[in-house]
This record gives sequence, C-alpha cells and structure tokens, in this order.
Amino acid sequence: GGPGGVGGDRQRFELPLAVPRTVRDAHVRLDMRRTQSRMLPSGRRTTAWTYGGSWPGPTIRRPAGQRTLVTVANHLPPRAGSMSMHLHGDHHASRYDGQPTTFLVRRGMSRTYRYDLVDDGKPAPGSFFWYHDHRMDKTTRNNWMGLQGMFIVEDPREAAAGLPQGERDVPLMISDRSFTRRNQLGALHEPSMVHGGHGEHSGHGEHGGGMAWTGPHAPPNDASVGNRLLVNGRVAPHLRTTATRYRLRLLNSSAFSSYNLALSNGRPFTQIGTGDGLLPHPVVRKHILLGPGQRADVVVDFHGLAGKNVVLKTVPRAKRIEGTGSRVGNLLQFRVRGTAADDSRVPRNLPTPELVRAPRKISMTWDFSLEGDEESGTFWAINGKAYDADRVDHRVKLDTVEAWRLKNTSDITHYVHLHQLQWRTVSRNGRRPPPWERGLEDTWKLDPGEQIVVAAKFTDYTGPFMVHCHMLDHEDHGMMATFRIHR
Ligand code: C2O
Ligand code: CU
Repeated sequence: GGPGGVGGDRQRFELPLAVPRTVRDAHVRLDMRRTQSRMLPSGRRTTAWTYGGSWPGPTIRRPAGQRTLVTVANHLPPRAGSMSMHLHGDHHASRYDGQPTTFLVRRGMSRTYRYDLVDDGKPAPGSFFWYHDHRMDKTTRNNWMGLQGMFIVEDPREAAAGLPQGERDVPLMISDRSFTRRNQLGALHEPSMVHGGHGEHSGHGEHGGGMAWTGPHAPPNDASVGNRLLVNGRVAPHLRTTATRYRLRLLNSSAFSSYNLALSNGRPFTQIGTGDGLLPHPVVRKHILLGPGQRADVVVDFHGLAGKNVVLKTVPRAKRIEGTGSRVGNLLQFRVRGTAADDSRVPRNLPTPELVRAPRKISMTWDFSLEGDEESGTFWAINGKAYDADRVDHRVKLDTVEAWRLKNTSDITHYVHLHQLQWRTVSRNGRRPPPWERGLEDTWKLDPGEQIVVAAKFTDYTGPFMVHCHMLDHEDHGMMATFRIHR
C-alpha cells in the first residue's frame, strides 16, 4: 500500500521491460501452449497460457493492404478446451472474426485466420490492434491466463510524418493479475469469486486469488481484478531510454480494470492516435483514461531529463464512479540515461483516416443495462436481453452508412466495443466529442447515463459480428449481442 497505491513509493522496478519479439511474416504461426515466464522480480516463474511462448505473444507488424495469415494451433492442457482468437479493431470476414461459439480452435487442432488489412478495397489505416481469446463464457479466464498479443498495421504515410520509430516506438500492454504465494496466477473461481469490497479498487491487499467487486445487485464473480499491475507481462518493470521522444502504444488488456494514466514528473502526453489510426491533430493531455480494450497512441518527450527517472502511473479519476475498477499505482519506470540525436517530430496535421458523413437518422440504439428477475437472478444485458448466440439483434445492408446510438442505462461505467468496423464518433452526450475522440474508434467509455452516436460504412464483408462490453466479466455474463451484414 502507501500513497502511491500498488507498490507505493518504495517500488524498485527491478525487472527490465519485456518487449515481445516482432514478427513480420505474411504467414505467422502461433502455438498456444503453457509457458513459464518471469512476471514477478523474485521467486518462481509463473505458468501462463500463451500465443507463441510469451505473454504478450509476439507483436505482429504488417504493412497496410498486405494480406496476413495467422495460423493458431491449440496445444493447451485438456481443461482449456476450445479457443477462438479475435483480432480486436481489425476489419475482416466473419469466419475469421474469432467469435465465441463458431469456427473454434479445438484441442490438438489449428485454424488459419485471414486478415486482408484493407478497408473499402483500399489499404487500411495504420493501426494498433490486439489479438486475444474470445471463447464463450471463458473469455475472462483465457485472457487472464495470458492469451493476448499486439498487432501493428504500418502505414507509409505515418513513417513519412516523422514520428519516433524503431526502438523508440514501444508497444505497452497494461494489465493486472493476482498471484499465489508460489507466484502462480490466482484462480478465478466460478461461479463466485468475491474477496474485495464495494467501490473503487485501490489495488491494495495481498489476496492469493483474484479479487472481485460486486455491486449492490451485480451477478456473482463479476469483476476479475488483480492486486499487481503489469506492463508487457511483468510487474512494475523499467525501461532505459535516451533523452529523446518516444512513441508509446498503450493498450489496456485487463479484464475489468481501467487506468487513468499520467507521468510522475507532470509532463503531458501528446496523444496522436487511437488504436484505429491517427487523430486529425495531436492532443496534449495530462491524463489518459483507458478502459479494457482501449488503446492510445502517444508521444512522450524525455528531452532535458538525462539522469532522471520518470514513472508511468495510474492516478484516481477526477470523477468518482462506484464499481468502475479504476486503479491507482505505478506501472513502468523510464530510466532516462544519456542524450542522443533525435530528428523525430509531431506534425500539427496528422495523416488521419477519412471520416464518413454521418446520416441524420439513427438506425439502431443499443442500451447497456443490468437486468434481473427472481428466477435467473441479475445479469448484464443489451436492450434488456442476455446474449444468445442464435439471435440476430440488428441487420445491416452491405455498402450502406448507419448511425447507431450507444447508451449506458446502468449505474456503473461500461467500455463498449463494436467488432468489424472503425467508427467515427459523431457526438457524446449530444455534443461534439472531445478532441481525442475525433479519429476512428472501436471501444468507448460510457459512464452511467452517457450516450454516444457513432457512424460507419459497412464495407467488404458480410455475416454476423458482435457488440459487447469489453469488461470481460460483463461480456461473459450476458452483455453481448449480434449484428449481421447482408447483401
Ligand atoms: Cu477485444 Cu469482442 O473483443
Ligand atoms: Cu460493462
């Protein structure tokens, strides 16, 4: 504990940051298997379920417009069962979407996913996606166990813009886990795993297993939160840098927790993008709130800081909302050592993807709520219904543009994700969205009572796709629905 939250002021940041290996092949192979890795600074290594032998799995980097095949083979232990891998943020055919109940990767079998990296027939914008498991009812467990990795789509227009590159372009996957005394991942108990109290997690405490938040009426085992904060699969690591600019691609891969990111020396981030391409203009921000599934593409400037340490941390949200899982603590220490040449820059106008013209008419409203009755107890719902794999909730015609309204009618925050398309945020609570929401998005924060309108054109592919809350406990507990694109 202590004033700094997890780790406090005495945190030593012993482990070096693990930067997952980069693969650039047109055909990538990822073996899912049990792996031992160094997550905690001392004691035993931790067993995880990984893609390709590390958590996060290898970072896949591919040029926009270049077809990419990823073959995933399931060598996990028997209790793991079948898997389904989703490339979050990407635009692809329904059969390669990694949906909860179809086209599964059975044990001992493999499946090849095809990503064309195109959008409306043209190369997709530069993006920061992530791949993760999406199996029905097991998404929380499978992600907790380590089935996660990052995927970067490279856009030549970005390289020309002069942003930091190479070693100064660092993907950072932020997450939380609890560990047993023997350094193993704390078990998530089904159906009920409740060690925590109500309200915000400060992240304090020494629970052996996972902790859970239960709201006044929330379903049991509803918030998988760990008591340690990890970056790229390690607790409180450090990264040696030079006194130059760095591009940090920030991903929150947690099941439930959100992070209000800040730098310990008070310097701001310059946010240049979401996970779905660059913003029209850079936005200077002291805090960046990232919920599960959200990404932020930022530049930080270490000029003048040689010899100093700077900590990436998560601080309390200004707006306090019960049960949102907002965390406090230290994430990563930058050890700024020595100066170096730096010809990078952040241009005033960024090469941003094109935005659709939003239609006036709203074609669909999705309400995110908590429902309950005596028979079934409480469950998370969209438009009053729990997820049913056999039900289609909305139909869309290929090559049309639609505007949808997403509305939170419950009393805790949700982070809502739409598969398949990258959307323009037309409005937030009836107003123009904030500057960091003026690019493309696929995952949005919805505080209690908030509503947004989003618009996109349905291009290239037909079939079913998902709408869901990316707090994985909520998703596993019913907060998911299906839309279907047809000709
Ligand atoms: Cu990141 Cu449907 O998921
Ligand atoms: Cu939710």
